[in-house]
Amino acid sequence: MCGIVGYIGNKDAKEILLHGLDTLEYRGYDSAGIYVMDDSQTGHLFKEKGRIAALRDKVDQSVAAFSGIGHTRWATHGAPSVDNAHPHQSNSGRFSIVHNGVIENFAEVRDAYLQDVELHSDTDTEIIVQLIAWFAESEELDTMDAFKKAIVALKGSYALALVDNENPDVIYAAKNKSPLLLGTGDGFNVICSDAMAMIRETNQFIELMDGEVATLSQEGIQIETLAGDIIDRAPYTAHLDANDLGKGTYPYYMAKEIDEQPAVMRKIIQNYQNEQGELEMDPEILESILASDRIYIVACGTSYNAGWVGKQLLEKTTNIPTEVHLSSEFGYNMPLLTEKPFFIFLSQSGETADSRQVLVQVNEMGYPSLTLTNVPGSTLSREAQFTLLLYAGPEIAVASTKAYTAQIAVMSILAELTAKAKGLPVEMDVAHELAIIASAIESVIDDKEIFEQLSLTHLSTSRNAFYIGRGIDYYLVMEASLKLKEVSYVQTEGFAAGELKHGTIALIEDNTPVISIITDKKTAGHTRGNAHEVISRGAHSMIISMDGLNQPEDAYVLPKVHELLTPLVSVIPTQLIAYYTSLHRGNDVDKPRNLAKSVTVE
Ligand code: AGP
Repeated sequence: MCGIVGYIGNKDAKEILLHGLDTLEYRGYDSAGIYVMDDSQTGHLFKEKGRIAALRDKVDQSVAAFSGIGHTRWATHGAPSVDNAHPHQSNSGRFSIVHNGVIENFAEVRDAYLQDVELHSDTDTEIIVQLIAWFAESEELDTMDAFKKAIVALKGSYALALVDNENPDVIYAAKNKSPLLLGTGDGFNVICSDAMAMIRETNQFIELMDGEVATLSQEGIQIETLAGDIIDRAPYTAHLDANDLGKGTYPYYMAKEIDEQPAVMRKIIQNYQNEQGELEMDPEILESILASDRIYIVACGTSYNAGWVGKQLLEKTTNIPTEVHLSSEFGYNMPLLTEKPFFIFLSQSGETADSRQVLVQVNEMGYPSLTLTNVPGSTLSREAQFTLLLYAGPEIAVASTKAYTAQIAVMSILAELTAKAKGLPVEMDVAHELAIIASAIESVIDDKEIFEQLSLTHLSTSRNAFYIGRGIDYYLVMEASLKLKEVSYVQTEGFAAGELKHGTIALIEDNTPVISIITDKKTAGHTRGNAHEVISRGAHSMIISMDGLNQPEDAYVLPKVHELLTPLVSVIPTQLIAYYTSLHRGNDVDKPRNLAKSVTVE
């Protein structure tokens, strides 16, 4: 996790770095820092615990700086504190570094080279900068050679930006596994963990690849391999709109992103339709799926929960057996694979390290892979054979909302087109159904006060809560409970409704909130029965049910949509409940404690 930025050029580096860090705060927000070089080539270090706003207050605005590096942290090694905040410096103060990633062999490196070096933090990062200084000073290497020699000694993931006071006109960068982009401009160049952080400065970016190092000056960028071979790589244009990054009139990004979902549904239909209005995608993706005997969906968190809905869609529409796996388990405990597997990686960010380590193995085994991601050019997109984009627009709140519905919508299109390519009869017109769903989502969002009220009466003071459902509603309650727990800190579980009586019902006490999701007519009666069982034991029950299912009078009724796509609508009340519960508990809705948006460590 963590976000890094760098700037060298002709404008106020402090402001550009702080703005970039504001944008990257989704990657971690327990401490932050910048190191800037003023026009008399003196370095200034500013670090603070907590958010970028706290760092901003600490920065001396009178310093005129034209280059520097910055970092926002999600703690891996060492508690959140000023000492552990980046940039870290060598003991002489000559070198300063920012790092995104985890150095797995930091203890070995420390013991091998740095036994006599006094350390000032508990981080793995400080080892890197002290090691560079050690090579530069003990072995009298120039900065680039010392940097490369240090990198060769490191095992793990890193995106690095390094400043050397003795070469103040250059910033050094390197990467392995963690993402790093170099941005180019007229009279300046930048470094960033993602393009959004620097989109106000430039939309021209060059990807740095694993095993490469770069030097940035005001005039240009030079990239080379560790062996010294110069790499000539053209920049690409990042199609991002700086205006997408604002909250507009919303108090929180999560509220804005929930509201954006009808528009996202319509945008997905448009982007996957050809000029004749027919759904279409790269035929090679469909051929590759049809050549396989089983689909393996691999993902984490909310994307994993979307994967279960995708399984249902793919199996029911294409008759291709589909399994869903947690990336963090799959990579280390791979099940027996069939002869011709096809892998689908679901990842909003496209940067999740747990998923990437599986993709690396899948590529080594030579199996075909497809990434569904919201971020074009992300690591999982680049490294998979195929990519399908979600077109959800930047998702900034740590809690994923519109990416979940976008993933399901894109999988529904994939399922329909695969079935058609297979020559199967397809009874669902997905584009039409998604258009109906866009309106259905709008009408649920119009009722948001109902869910705010429910949060106030049922959840804002509760210790725990339960969501229950069966079949496709069980997949949905897995996501509903993750959403509520991650933003409100109410301990919430999502259960298969039929399983309650096999143990979990023992947890039901007076006023325990239990929310039942009922959208499937085959199981509606049974789940209603389960709701009655918990009411009889004192639970505070709420039923959210699809229209036409003989619901009790006090149930909230969702507009009717296609039975395979109900999670696209039934998830909306659960997102609103999570949002309002977090809000009324006084939490930072967009940045829940201990979390980060992009999880780039395993
Ligand atoms: C979602 O609300 C979570 N914050 C988290 O579970 C997230 O879905 C997970 O980390 C996977 O991220 P990805 O989709 O970017 O791979």
